[in-house]
Amino acid sequence: MTDLTEKPIKNILVTGGAGFIGSNFIHYILYTEPQAVIINLDALTYAGRPENLAGLPDTSRHIFIHGDIGNQKLVQQIFRKYAIDSVVHFAAESHVDRSIHDPGQFVQTNVMGTYSLLESARQYWLVEKDIPVSEVRFHHISTDEVFGSLSPHDPPFSETTPYAPNSPYAASKAASDHLVRAYWHTYGLPITISNCSNNYGPRQFPEKLIPLMIVNAQSGQPLPVYGDGKQIRDWLYVEDHCQAIHKILQLGKPGETYNIGGNNQPTNLTIVELLCDIIDECLPQSHFLPHKQLIQFVADRPGHDRRYAMDTSKIQRELHWQPQHDLQGGLLRTIEWYLSNSGWVEAISKHGDYQSWLQKNYQGRGSEK
Ligand code: NAD
Ligand code: TYD
Repeated sequence: MTDLTEKPIKNILVTGGAGFIGSNFIHYILYTEPQAVIINLDALTYAGRPENLAGLPDTSRHIFIHGDIGNQKLVQQIFRKYAIDSVVHFAAESHVDRSIHDPGQFVQTNVMGTYSLLESARQYWLVEKDIPVSEVRFHHISTDEVFGSLSPHDPPFSETTPYAPNSPYAASKAASDHLVRAYWHTYGLPITISNCSNNYGPRQFPEKLIPLMIVNAQSGQPLPVYGDGKQIRDWLYVEDHCQAIHKILQLGKPGETYNIGGNNQPTNLTIVELLCDIIDECLPQSHFLPHKQLIQFVADRPGHDRRYAMDTSKIQRELHWQPQHDLQGGLLRTIEWYLSNSGWVEAISKHGDYQSWLQKNYQGRGSEK
């Protein structure tokens, strides 16, 4: 039986807190942890949006620092100034397609950035302060993509599945996971790692499948489905991910890894069709009904992983976590959020950087049908 004693959480360094999952986590934790103070270190890359932090429940407990996790001097100052006792490390380059175009940035941020944080935590907690390890925690956010690709009848990934990353993104995350693990084994730095499946929900940058499809459908743009659209992902509503991270922070065992997922495996085409059906219902006056007519099959992603699936029995059994949202309900909430936050979408979509990304990734990909 696992000992479910909660670790107190006071001063949390959240990295990448202006991004999709990080900002949802900050909203969530300020509601659920009335004593917690969040120090949010974010470099505000294209994916970091200060507007993601609008409407926080208690701004007096949120301190934003604009900076790079790779700046070790800055990170060390933050540990000292705010007496950090917990780290939740989200900051990363997170988009597989971008990693195919520009892998170097992924190595820099995901590997070197993680090293900088680990080393700062080790120096401050273990060398300078000699804090009992039961009082501090470094939680590293990782992905199911480190495990590679499954064949149709393979069992889902478990915590003991060997790593076999296929994209530069997945490889850089795998490298960072290995570093985190090594800091536990070598120095006793109290770490935990979670490997989560594909997230969706409010505030996700519209380069990823679900928000891209919502934004394009609304404006009558093509819905580009890579290859045959039969690739399989496991989808998790972001709030469920935040809840799982919270549980791991409170109750997770140092040195352990936990798989997190939504226990569903639709094909990409099923997801896009489901989105179109829900958008049809939400926008009965749309000029683009039925939105399915906008689907276009385009050239596949190089090295595209065919299938991911997660065995989440460990976190269910040991920490009593399971997802609260089913796919249909989560997608409806997500679509409603995008439809009622058109200003958020416009600020991104009118930006030259976003338009050049769309050109770079989709132009010349052609239509396969
Ligand atoms: P995101 O791209 O939306 O946000 C990343 C954030 O990190 C941005 O705010 C960006 O400004 C910041 N950042 C980037 N480089 C930085 C640097 N050098 N210093 C400081 N901040 C920097 O990403 P996301 O989707 O919210 O993913 C967050 C984490 O979760 C990542 O580690 C990702 O690998 C992991 N993850 C994501 C998913 C998913 O489906 N999105 C699934 C599993 C795991
Ligand atoms: P994505 O949201 O980029 O997440 P990941 O690559 O991390 O799983 O993509 C999810 C799936 O959707 C993936 O199989 C690639 C596919 N996809 C498309 O078919 N078309 C698109 O325009 C995008 C962005 C993704």
